[in-house]
This record gives sequence, C-alpha cells and structure tokens, in this order.
Amino acid sequence: MLLPRINHRLLLRHSPSPPSFVPFPSSSPSRFPSFPKTALPASKLVSGVMTAAMAVRPPKLLFRQLFEKESSTYTYLLADVAHPDKPALLIDPVDRTVDRDLSVVKDLGLKLIYAMNTHVHADHITGTGLIKDRVPGVKSIISKASNSKADLLIEAGNKICFGSLFLEVRATPGHTLGCVTYVTGDGPGQPHPRMAFTGDALLIRGCGRTDFQGGSSGELYQSVHSQIFTLPKDTLVYPAHDYKGFTVSTVGEEMLYNPRLTKDEETFKSIMENLNLPYPKMIDVAVPANMVCGLQDRVVKA
Ligand SMILES: [Fe+2]
Repeated sequence: MLLPRINHRLLLRHSPSPPSFVPFPSSSPSRFPSFPKTALPASKLVSGVMTAAMAVRPPKLLFRQLFEKESSTYTYLLADVAHPDKPALLIDPVDRTVDRDLSVVKDLGLKLIYAMNTHVHADHITGTGLIKDRVPGVKSIISKASNSKADLLIEAGNKICFGSLFLEVRATPGHTLGCVTYVTGDGPGQPHPRMAFTGDALLIRGCGRTDFQGGSSGELYQSVHSQIFTLPKDTLVYPAHDYKGFTVSTVGEEMLYNPRLTKDEETFKSIMENLNLPYPKMIDVAVPANMVCGLQDRVVKA
C-alpha cells in the first residue's frame, strides 16, 4: 500500500502545542499503515507509525561522525537501518564535504530525508542547499527562531522522526538566538545512552562565543544548564566543532570538567566578555548564505 505524501509545513503549523512531530515521509511501499489524506493531530500520526514499526522490527541506529577540517566542523549521519527504506538525516553538513557525505549515504544504501542545522553557522557555509539540489525530496530543517529559510522550521518540543527513531528539539539559544540541540528519543527502541547534538551551545570543555548573531552569555548559561545538563549524565555530547581532537563527551563529564560552564553565571559571563576573540573571518559570507539554506547564488539570481 502506498503512503500519501505528508505536507510537513501543514503538519507543523497545525500541530498541537509541543510536542509535535515531523514523521518520516515516504511514498514507497511500506509495511506501515497508510495515513489518512487529511492531516491528523501530529501526535496520533507519529505514535501510530512508531507502534506499527516497532511491532515489525525494532529500530536500529546507524551513526557516523564526519569531520570538515577547514572549519573543524562535525557532520553527523543518523539512520534507522532496521526500517525497510533506511531513512537517514544529516546534521550540520558543510558545503565543501557534501560529495563525501552523499557518497557515504549511497554506499550504505540509505535514503536521505533531512538535512538539518543546529544554527546559522558563521564559520562555514551549510551543505543543505547543495544536498537538496542533488537528492530530490530531501527537506532542510532549521529553527524558526533563527529567522532563516528552510523547508521545515522547528521549535522546542518538536520531534523529528526517521523510521522508528526520532530526535527531540531543545531550544538552546545564547551562541546565536536560534540555536537548538537535537537529542535522540527517550523510550523503547531509542538509543541508549541518549545522544545530544549540541551545535555550538556546548562544546567539549568549551562553548560557542556569544558576541555575534544575537548571542548572549546569560542566555547560553541558562540554556546549557536547563536544557542539556538536565539530561541523563550518560547522555553522549556530540558538538558541532572541536579544535583539539576531542570527538565525544558526556553530560556528566561536562558538568564536572567544562572550564566555563561549571562556574556560576556571573563568572561565566565575565569569562565570555573577556575572550578577546578575533572577528570571525567567514561571518560576512557564511551568515547571509546560511540564512537562505546555503543557496545564496540562487537568491541573488532570482
Ligand atoms: Fe556557530
């Protein structure tokens, strides 16, 4: 039986207050029950999908951490390889490494459905626009609070589903006003320990700067403490960057050893105000491009 196409914008707009859901879209044959043609309340839609899927086969996470060396950016590939279609998503892809990322997707037989960003990056151009060009049907995702363009604009409490797995959206502003952290789901069949893709809100033994793009040190402090440090201590922390060779940390480890975020709020603000960092060299190019999904050339020509 064929699944009808899901109108993601409609679904998000008409979803009840959080949590709301972005289901795995598919028009290919599936063992899942078909969706009605009218949009259901999102929670019903997703719970129906997950129950049916897990009755057939429990989800299985495929995870890859990829690195772009010029901007020291991590791109993350996640997929549910137990699902017949192997739906996959990329978090924080970089334009320079789109070919590499898509070759991995192809080699592993995955169906890429989402290319998403944790925030509007200032140090590189996102790969989401290029990916959309090369893989028909892929939807770009960024937070509504970023004020940028994407196919799906998400908010705190939304859930982004790929197969029977999902990511929760947590608002973690402070590095930029639109930063979010994506956290793997909590519940049967979801990865354990959980995984938090923190963008630049929380880096391993550090954090993103707060002096551009609507940044605020006070807000960042509150975001990390209320939205990340409240996760289980064994939650794996996967940041958007690392400059020292670290690849992963845990919430518990950062709560103990992060040299900035273990301090009280006033000390943290003082540290952030006195970093004396140089002007970000890519910011004037990267931010305007990333506000339009990395498709700046098309916007200029249009
Ligand atoms: Fe950033």
